Amino acid sequence: MGVNAKTYTGDCLNLLMDMPPESVDLIYVDPPFFTQKVHSSVTRDGSQAFSFRDIWINDNSYADFVYQRIARMHDVLSGTGSIFFHCDKSASHIVRLILDSVFSTENFRSEIVWHFKRWSNSKKGLLSAHQTIFFYSKTDDFKFNTFYQEYSPSTNIDQIMQKRVRDDRNKSVYARTDDGAVISNGSKKGVPLSDVWEIPFLNPKAKERVGYPTQKPVRLLNQIIKLATDEGDVVLDPFCGSGTTLVAAQLLKRHSIGIDISSEAIKLTKDRLQDPIVTSSVLLEKGAKAYRQYAKDASKHLVGIDYLPVHRNKGIDGLLKQEVNNLPAFVRVQRDCEALHETIAAIKKSTKDKGACCLVVIATLNDFPDQGSDRHSSSDVLVIPSTALSLSAHLGGDPNGGRPQRPEAAYLDI
Ligand SMILES: C[S@@+](CC[C@H](N)C(=O)[O-])C[C@H]1O[C@@H](n2cnc3c(N)ncnc32)[C@H](O)[C@@H]1O
Repeated sequence: MGVNAKTYTGDCLNLLMDMPPESVDLIYVDPPFFTQKVHSSVTRDGSQAFSFRDIWINDNSYADFVYQRIARMHDVLSGTGSIFFHCDKSASHIVRLILDSVFSTENFRSEIVWHFKRWSNSKKGLLSAHQTIFFYSKTDDFKFNTFYQEYSPSTNIDQIMQKRVRDDRNKSVYARTDDGAVISNGSKKGVPLSDVWEIPFLNPKAKERVGYPTQKPVRLLNQIIKLATDEGDVVLDPFCGSGTTLVAAQLLKRHSIGIDISSEAIKLTKDRLQDPIVTSSVLLEKGAKAYRQYAKDASKHLVGIDYLPVHRNKGIDGLLKQEVNNLPAFVRVQRDCEALHETIAAIKKSTKDKGACCLVVIATLNDFPDQGSDRHSSSDVLVIPSTALSLSAHLGGDPNGGRPQRPEAAYLDI
């Protein structure tokens, strides 16, 4: 199916005035959030800078701006359509009241919490790790495609599969046939998608990142578009910025309309539509467990060591909580299929752009070099035998079938 993407430069209020009533099926709104800042950033190669202003006289002037535009959005939305309004703690209290008054409280559907991981900042107080998306429909006859998530690992399969009823004391019990057999509830698809969405923020190196300030991930827009529209429907983004919504709509075969007051943003949107890039998230595809699994074997050799596990850097298993000689100290455990020189090469490679640091390797195999060898004359990696390796060497056994040794900690540069 061929879909079209239309873009317009200008204040969305004026453009919304010119649009026919009830002509769009979904509106995603990602306006300035009332942060009282100018948001700026540059493209990765530094060749272009973008910015938008988010500074207001007071909360009334912001509320006026939002109210005028939401009222027009209500007019252009079809009877089965929905609006998803993105905001954060700066003005979510203002936005919610305006949406209630224009769309009515009966058409409030969800307050979606977009949760993402953040690195620590130095501010006193709780680290901000979510934004809010208000979901309202125009009527109660709104289009909605249900999606399912996997059950949590703690879910009891019997509870899912067996039908439940209330007994005489209003207690939930398994439904049974007259013969006492438990009645099955049929097959299940999973748990309906909740209103807390864990979708990673675009990291600074993500291919999808085009250098636009506050750019949202295509994955977030995919989820919204799939929930509220079908192929061939029309999606409107009146504050489209770098065009994330239009890119997602195009990939999902929906028509789209993007408006932005900045001509640079509209140019960027058009460029992105020519070559849409979506970053895949290893975290989402494999799940957080994949990272934990990776480090599980290593972590048994780190018991009793005070460290922070590192899951996402291939060559590093942990960061010691205590600095060594005032330097951060990284640790890696030798893998079963890895020669010691490979372990050392792996941690060196992973830490080469981390500035001055101390490297610790825990040797688990019997390829620990002789103490007299000149192979460990240099001193940039501290290699320590694992407890199991030390013990088996001292007991004369050899867990790996090689030559028994009595390894001791040594600085090596293999
Ligand atoms: C938060 S950014 C949108 C980011 C976008 N969702 C993305 O993923 O790139 C808000 C955008 O609103 C635009 N804007 C501000 N006032 C506007 C107005 N009155 N009409 C249309 N766009 C406006 C800004 O230029 C900015 O690009």
